[in-house]
Amino acid sequence: MSRLDPHSYWDAGQPRTRRLRLSLSVDFSERRLSGSVVLELAAPASGPFDLDTKGLAILSVRGADGRDIPHALADEEPILGRRLRLDLPSGTREVAIEYRTSPDAVALQWLAPEQTEGKRHPFLFSQCQAIHARTVAPLQDSPRVRVTYAAEITVPEPLAAVMSAGPAGVRPGPVAGTRTFLFEMPQPIPPYLLALAVGDIGSRDLSPRSRVHSEPATLERAAWEFAGIEEMIVKAEGLFGPYEWDRYDMIVLPPSFPYGGMENPRMTFLTPTLLAGDRSLVDVVAHELAHSWTGNLVTNASIDHFWLNEGSTVYAERRIHEALHGEEAAVLGWAIGQKALDEEMERFGAGSPLTRLRTDLAGIDPDDAFSSIPYEKGSRLLALLERTAGRERFDRFLRDYIAAFRFTSITSEEWLAFLQERLPGVAERAQVRDWLYEPGLPANAPVFRSRALEDLTSLAESWTRGERPTPPQIATWKPSEMLVFLKGLPRELPPADCAALDQLLGLMGRGNHEILVEWLVIAAGSDYEPAFGKVREVLTRVGRMKYLRPLYAALGRHPRTRALARDIVAAASPGYHALSRRVVESVMSKYAD
Ligand code: BES
Ligand code: ZN
Repeated sequence: MSRLDPHSYWDAGQPRTRRLRLSLSVDFSERRLSGSVVLELAAPASGPFDLDTKGLAILSVRGADGRDIPHALADEEPILGRRLRLDLPSGTREVAIEYRTSPDAVALQWLAPEQTEGKRHPFLFSQCQAIHARTVAPLQDSPRVRVTYAAEITVPEPLAAVMSAGPAGVRPGPVAGTRTFLFEMPQPIPPYLLALAVGDIGSRDLSPRSRVHSEPATLERAAWEFAGIEEMIVKAEGLFGPYEWDRYDMIVLPPSFPYGGMENPRMTFLTPTLLAGDRSLVDVVAHELAHSWTGNLVTNASIDHFWLNEGSTVYAERRIHEALHGEEAAVLGWAIGQKALDEEMERFGAGSPLTRLRTDLAGIDPDDAFSSIPYEKGSRLLALLERTAGRERFDRFLRDYIAAFRFTSITSEEWLAFLQERLPGVAERAQVRDWLYEPGLPANAPVFRSRALEDLTSLAESWTRGERPTPPQIATWKPSEMLVFLKGLPRELPPADCAALDQLLGLMGRGNHEILVEWLVIAAGSDYEPAFGKVREVLTRVGRMKYLRPLYAALGRHPRTRALARDIVAAASPGYHALSRRVVESVMSKYAD
């Protein structure tokens, strides 16, 4: 037995899946996908073949000749789910599994019409990273097992389906009132990039290779917000090499989507909280786009190397930002990231093994280990290497790295070996081993400075001494500058200060959710009653975990806001994604009483 991925039953000594053929029907009333998946093997095989499943009902397993293949579902493991072991007769090239998903599948959120913008039709979206693809289909759910796929998805009219794949047509469904959407994904992907959304979905072209999808009522705003996508793709190609996925499309999901964005290839999934109305949050799109190179082309071999995906992508995102808006603007991004990093170091404790880049998460749920550490510590390591090698050499290294490992999944050790080969001496000078294997942030972490950053930081620090930014000063601020200012303020202010701050910056009505939530975190932590209504509104409407965690944590400070939080959560939690609900429960379990 050779299990290389602690979060999968996949056995490297067994046959490998090369391609999936999904045929599924979407049942909103039962909240299930049902149908079949065919797993095509890389080579004819025989003997044991282990798949990951979680919550799946397995109805039949057959070979290409239609004959039953002996199989057994092992007992449920809390994180991994149930191993499905098939016993393949010799010469097996493919297996067809009939199955259906559970209404509790973590990867699937089923929304009632009230939870959508249009209020008339239900909506479904998936979120498979890191290990939830196994709740959607039986498969080898490890990023090392890359697959191409074809899919036929049957949905009730007038709904439409999109996937992380190229569209391949629509035809009438098997029963009246349904349609079947066809997809073809020719590029091999890790299973966590399998993605599906179903709803009242329209689309708008943004460039010859890019289109945005959303509910009809959101389309106009979405198309405006992301109009700059082609420019971003062009900049990214200049930095990292050709875009290898043909098209770059996006979908703006309903607000319960638990992340800011998810890099599903050919169809990035996005939270509607990015629609600030001023294009100020498109960095999240730059991030998901950058995953097209770092993450989707070169993929972490398991969640223990997650920093390779996210650290590299944050670095790439900030390089795109710099190319578009200049160095000063990029420095603000690094500064905002530093705050997140400091907070996470404090949450885990700088000695915690979860603050290593290369982790050992066997026995730990990846969702519980999720944090900004791989993002911000990881991106800082790359920035340090850039400074050590010089930008030109490092840029060449990055492009060579992507070209060398494209369409493969690698470990931190493989990354390090390549670094040592291509940039001799740099890893040693930067003490890369400490970065990878030791907890905390190494002392040689790069520092990012700019005049604007220093001014904003000192202005925020002088708040408690009664100094205030002036209206003309504020009028020149970009949203990221206002955010840096807010992040520099104390987490608790007297009510009069809260009122003054809101008045000065017009915070309560902000469409930029980074600013709005930063303000509400201060207001909630300050027991500032005039903000309670807005706090409730945001926590009820939005399921993005990045906002739920700090807001509920801030509400934990005072008895009155703790009561408010309990009240809000009782009303809001049925609308939360299962992952969001878990985060909220964990934050509230730390409340004083
Ligand atoms: N791939 C992640 C989201 C993710 C990570 C989902 C781990 C499940 C498990 C995505 O690219 C991401 O990092 N999103 C961030 C964007 C931000 C860093 C710009 C988010 O959702 O906030
Ligand atoms: Zn990411």
